[in-house]
Amino acid sequence: ERVKGINGLEKIVLREIRGSSAEVYLYGAHVTSWKNDHGEELLFLSSKAIFKPPKAIRGGIPICFPQFSNNGPLESHGFARNRFWSIDNDPPPFPTNTSTKAYVDLILKPTEEDMKIWPHSFEFRLRVSLSPAGDLLLTSRIRNTNTDGKPFSFTFAYHTYFSVSDISEVRVEGLETLDYLDNLQHKERFTEQGDAITFESEVDKIYLSTPTKIAILDHEKKRTFVLRKDGLPDAVVWNPWEKKAKGMVDFGDDEYKHMLCVEAAAVEKPITLKPGEEWRGRQEISAVPSSYCSGQ
Ligand code: BG6
Repeated sequence: ERVKGINGLEKIVLREIRGSSAEVYLYGAHVTSWKNDHGEELLFLSSKAIFKPPKAIRGGIPICFPQFSNNGPLESHGFARNRFWSIDNDPPPFPTNTSTKAYVDLILKPTEEDMKIWPHSFEFRLRVSLSPAGDLLLTSRIRNTNTDGKPFSFTFAYHTYFSVSDISEVRVEGLETLDYLDNLQHKERFTEQGDAITFESEVDKIYLSTPTKIAILDHEKKRTFVLRKDGLPDAVVWNPWEKKAKGMVDFGDDEYKHMLCVEAAAVEKPITLKPGEEWRGRQEISAVPSSYCSGQ
């Protein structure tokens, strides 16, 4: 279903028969809502989010492409998150079977203006789908369509803002003992200790070559988010905490308590595509009552 969202910006609403739903803005191909079959919102979206180009929407799932963060010549997180995408009515077939009817295919191609800041031709196809169980699956396919014979390289992230009841009660499992780059310490490399990750201050880390499954346990809500990824070796974990929150115009002062970004990403080693080559990256997130996970 295609409807008008905030400020008249168009969005697609996906609904699964059992009751889960998701919303995707054409602006940024940005998922702004993901609800379970009880109608509970699972993603964080700032109450101060600005739905006005060229500002990227604060919350949900911005797509970071072709540059993650500010390590490169482009604006922070690249430009895919603040371009208008189109609906892709006739996408090339996906290898995986889609057992759901709740999906949408979007496409982004660079304009001449885009090619002035990033001189490469590409087709970026994104499928957003909800499984019958309500899992949210994002599949990206990026193809190099350069006709000058040149390869290009990019970094990437699904910048997922999970909604949590209280950040100080949250634990992340699956990243312990891994190496990470700490954005708060000049991107220096460290090794995480053996315990599950908990939060008591600002965090901005890029965990390298992580397992494909990461769990975010929300003790208070008795809910566990499970993130599964494919083609995306790294995982970014971000919470701005109090001071940075106050510095962001589109983020409430106390909202850091109720969000955590865990992002399937390819950051450390950029992905390189020759002309005609295609890359795929998938992120699947599910939300389950914690009791189902105990003992795992
Ligand atoms: C995170 C980065 O993924 O995104 C942080 O690691 C950054 O460094 C944050 O501050 C938010 O970025 P932005 O551009 O949406 O404010």
